[in-house]
Amino acid sequence: MSQLQGQLQGQLQGKVAFITGGGSGIGRGIAERLARDGADVFVTDIDLAGAEHTVDLVTQLGRRAGACKANVAAPLQLEQAVAECVAKFGRLDIAVANAGIGRGASVLEMTLKDWQDQLDVNLTGVFLTVQAAARQMVRLGNGGRIVCISSLAAETTGAGIWSYSATKAGVRIMVRGWAQELGPAGITVNAIGPGVIDTPLAAGLAGEREGVIRKSLEQRTPVGRVGRPEDIAGLVSFLTGPDGAFMSGSYVIMDGGLRDARASWDPDPKALEEIQRIMARGEARRAAQQALLDERD
Ligand SMILES: NC(=O)c1ccc[n+]([C@@H]2O[C@H](COP(=O)([O-])OP(=O)(O)OC[C@H]3O[C@@H](n4cnc5c(N)ncnc54)[C@H](O)[C@@H]3O)[C@@H](O)[C@H]2O)c1
Repeated sequence: MSQLQGQLQGQLQGKVAFITGGGSGIGRGIAERLARDGADVFVTDIDLAGAEHTVDLVTQLGRRAGACKANVAAPLQLEQAVAECVAKFGRLDIAVANAGIGRGASVLEMTLKDWQDQLDVNLTGVFLTVQAAARQMVRLGNGGRIVCISSLAAETTGAGIWSYSATKAGVRIMVRGWAQELGPAGITVNAIGPGVIDTPLAAGLAGEREGVIRKSLEQRTPVGRVGRPEDIAGLVSFLTGPDGAFMSGSYVIMDGGLRDARASWDPDPKALEEIQRIMARGEARRAAQQALLDERD
């Protein structure tokens, strides 16, 4: 196919993408973007309803899609999910290790369970995703592109977020070793470090639309707005498309310039009410998610 034909049909026409945590936020944004680029998409999540909703969005874009419930912290579930993707579509070109959780707490209060869960999902889950996907890619012999979602928190940290940072810094460094190992098989591996992106996971940092937390964040961020899943999806599109072919072992921050912005803000008394609302919603979501996360057989 000529390059022009490829562009007209979408740069990922005929490719198959596997995405973990594709039932919400950034993962869903990536699924939609890669579908717009022409790829067929397979999403996994512990939240099957969320993953199925993403499938609907992808099929509405005219691409083939599949979903299954799989916990990235459960090796067998993940291996079966990747195998199901390959069985359904007959190939695997792109893998995005996106699923992640946040279990912030002070060092005085962090429980061993929260510490371990966060490691299991954010670090072991990324390793297992890359291992299962790369094994299939090597077996199929067509090369591949792997993108791991790290975080700006791999590079900056602070009170309450240090344990999350540890997992994301692990991802940031692991991709460099994997790029060395998988390069000869024609597979690139890169990490993305998103800043604050407006998703349920980051509700406490992004605040509510029109709320005081959001306004403060917008004022502190050089580009003047919160990040959106489609911002990160655009970078994944670059890394998995023809223009990203020479990139491997990299960690790319996409944060609107927030890394070097003023770190703290003067809390507005109105923020307290907003924080309480967000925390109540966050607690409810976390309780539902925890039950699914504990299913590992
Ligand atoms: N939103 C941000 O500001 C931000 C910033 C930096 C990095 N990130 C990272 O981006 C990734 C996506 O986060 P998001 O903001 O879209 O969050 P999100 O909570 O909206 O989506 C994450 C999805 O992953 C799923 N998931 C959680 N644990 C899982 C598991 N064990 N197995 C399978 N699926 C699981 C959830 O059910 C959910 O659908 C995460 O790795 C997160 O750490 C997010």
